[in-house]
Order: sequence, then C-alpha cells, then structure tokens
Amino acid sequence: MAAGGWRSTVSRLLGAVKSQDPIFRRISDIRTVTLIPGDGIGPEISNAVMKIFAAADAPIRWEEKNITAAQGPSGKWEIPADAKVSMDTNKIGLKGPLMTPIAAGHPSMNLLLRKTFDLYANLRPCVSIEGFQTPYTDVNLVTIRENTEGEYSGIEHMIVDGVVQSIKLITETASKRIAEFAFEYSRINKRSTVTAVHKANIMRMSDGLFLRKCREVAENYKDIKFTEVYLDTVCLNMVQDPSQFDVLVMPNLYGDILSDLCAGLIGGLGVTPSGNIGANGVAIFESVHGTAPDIAGKDMANPTALLLSAVMMLRHMGLFDHARKIESACFETIKNQQVLTKDLGGNSKCSEFTQEICNRVRDKD
Ligand SMILES: NC(=O)c1ccc[n+]([C@@H]2O[C@H](COP(=O)([O-])OP(=O)(O)OC[C@H]3O[C@@H](n4cnc5c(N)ncnc54)[C@H](O)[C@@H]3O)[C@@H](O)[C@H]2O)c1
Repeated sequence: MAAGGWRSTVSRLLGAVKSQDPIFRRISDIRTVTLIPGDGIGPEISNAVMKIFAAADAPIRWEEKNITAAQGPSGKWEIPADAKVSMDTNKIGLKGPLMTPIAAGHPSMNLLLRKTFDLYANLRPCVSIEGFQTPYTDVNLVTIRENTEGEYSGIEHMIVDGVVQSIKLITETASKRIAEFAFEYSRINKRSTVTAVHKANIMRMSDGLFLRKCREVAENYKDIKFTEVYLDTVCLNMVQDPSQFDVLVMPNLYGDILSDLCAGLIGGLGVTPSGNIGANGVAIFESVHGTAPDIAGKDMANPTALLLSAVMMLRHMGLFDHARKIESACFETIKNQQVLTKDLGGNSKCSEFTQEICNRVRDKD
C-alpha cells in the first residue's frame, strides 16, 4: 500500500474510534473560556467556580487573563492585547469584579470591555431563591439593558468654566437591536411580556426614538405581549409587587439603576447573575458586585453571583445538563441553610460553602 493509502486508512479508523470513544469525544467537546478573575475577592470566587465546575465534570477549559488598563501607542486606553486575543478566539468569557480606581485617568475597565467587544445587551435574570429570606418570595423577572450608548456614551465637555454638558446618545440602530434582543430572548425563553421602560414624556426625542423602535419591533412578535411604562412608575410598582413584571427592556442608565433595584428584591448583588451579550457571538458573563476589598483574602466571599453567571454561560453554550446540575446544587445548599457565607446569614467560609456545593453536585451523578 502506498504511504498516502495507509495514512488515510489509519486516519479514517482513528476518526471512527474518536467518534465512538467517550474519552476522545469528551476531549473534542471541551470548550475554552476566557476567565478574568478580577481584583479583590475575584480570584477567590473564580477558584470556587472552577472547583464546582470540575466537580460537575463540565467540559470547560479555562484560559486565565488579567485585565489592567494599558495605553496603546496612540495614547488610547485599551484592554491588554493577550486578553483581547483570548476573547476574540474563545468568544465566551467569565469575569469577576474589577476595581475602578477613582481619578486614575483611565476609563472603567468594565466599560472598556463592553465597548471593545460591542457587548450591547446586559441581561440580568432576578429570581427569588427558596430559603433565602427577603421581603418578596415570588420575583421572576429579567432586566435587559442597552449597554453601549445613552447616558454612558462618554461624550462630555465643558461649555464654559463651571458649565459641563453630558450627552445622552440614542440611536435608531442600537434601540432596534436591543428591542429585537429582548423579544427574541423572550420567545426562546418562553416569557410572555416585554415592557419598555422610558421617559419619553420628558425626553421626547431620545427616549421617544427608543420607544418608537420598541413598538415597531413588537409588531413582529405578536406572540409576546408588549407594554410601555415610565421609569418612575416602574420603580413604584416594582417595590409594591414585583411579580407583575416579566421582561423589561430599557436604555443604559435606567437599566443600570433598575437592574440593581431588582437584584435587591432577591437578596442583593451577591446572588444575582449577569451576562453581557454582544455581536458576532461574543458574550461575557460576570458577577456585578464589586471587589469587596473589606473581605478580600479572608475566605469570606460569597461566590454565588459568579457561579450563577457561569451557569447562565453554560446555558448560552448549550450545556443545559451541567447548568441544571450546578444550579440546583447551589440552590439546595442555600435552601438547606446549614453551610452559608456570612452575607447569606451563615458562618461558613467561602471554601466550606464551595465544598458543600461540590458534594451536592457529585451526588447528582
Ligand atoms: N462589576 C464590577 O467589576 C464592579 C461593580 C461594582 C464595584 N466595583 C469596584 O469594586 C470596588 C469596591 O466597590 P464597593 O465597595 O462600592 O462595592 P462592593 O460590592 O465591593 O462591596 C459592598 C459591600 O458588599 C460586600 N460584598 C460584595 N460582594 C460580596 C460577595 N461576593 N460576598 C460577600 N460580600 C460581598 C462587601 O464586603 C461590602 O461590604 C470599587 O473599586 C468599585 O469600582 C466593580
């Protein structure tokens, strides 16, 4: 047999073995995710997530990258080149909290990440956690925030000494894109109602445009109910009865504030997951609490927010079984109330809480 002949036969046989052998299949199924542990408690909670993923046998390989602000040759602030290459290649990232030094001269790294990868939609599901005492037990809503423009466009200037202007930028393209995202998300996730949050009665042109685009997009999704509500009314109604809301879509600043308010309804930022979804399949999932410098390095951090964000990530990647296994182990641990971190009302260390979830994950095999 000619060399080419036996080579192709071996390669065909190997291919057949690979497609049937679970070990070969598992190796080829492993996906690489960029992990940005972040600052303060970031490395501790990232370690917790990695341990729990290992216990669940999740097919994820982590590529760790640190993010510190760097200035490019033109003086423009950029994320480090190796982190950018990693995200461009892997498309999916998990991120811990990043410290934003005040008056350090560089923009928020969170903002820079959103801009760099055009992460235009921020998605935060807020669902009451059984066994974790909060004033409400029946919250089940999702906030969808336009992430790239609005009041966070970064266009500010001084008109004359003592007078500063900040520009709220609303575009047709970004408004249509976020509205489509909200309706598409609702359809895929079997949600019944999308509510546009706005102040078009005051900002007639900017919020008016946002609302108009939401109305237009709603016309293409007749299976989903569309409602509109003023931001101030939503805040009032939300604290009176959050169960009346389903999916809420809104411009940047309103989303920043309302999503934190909603996180408060289910127990705070320590238990709220978040995902930033972008164009071209790029997505970064993140805990939205800060670096907690007061407890960093003390094994006291609660990894739940980052873990549930990682669960969202698994679902985004189509790894539903692993997501369900990890999520239910986490919720069972909280419901059981025996091993909880201090912020959840317990006395356990981060490492003990993590171990408890690992044990429960393994019990599900
Ligand atoms: N997404 C992000 O990267 C993000 C968000 C907010 C703040 N920050 C940065 O974090 C730093 C500190 O900010 P801050 O003090 O205003 O807010 P913070 O969220 O870090 O801390 C507020 C309080 O909540 C507690 N806490 C937060 N997360 C916790 C967790 N997972 N487990 C247990 N306790 C937790 C802290 O101990 C602290 O008492 C700042 O540099 C800020 O810029 C980053």
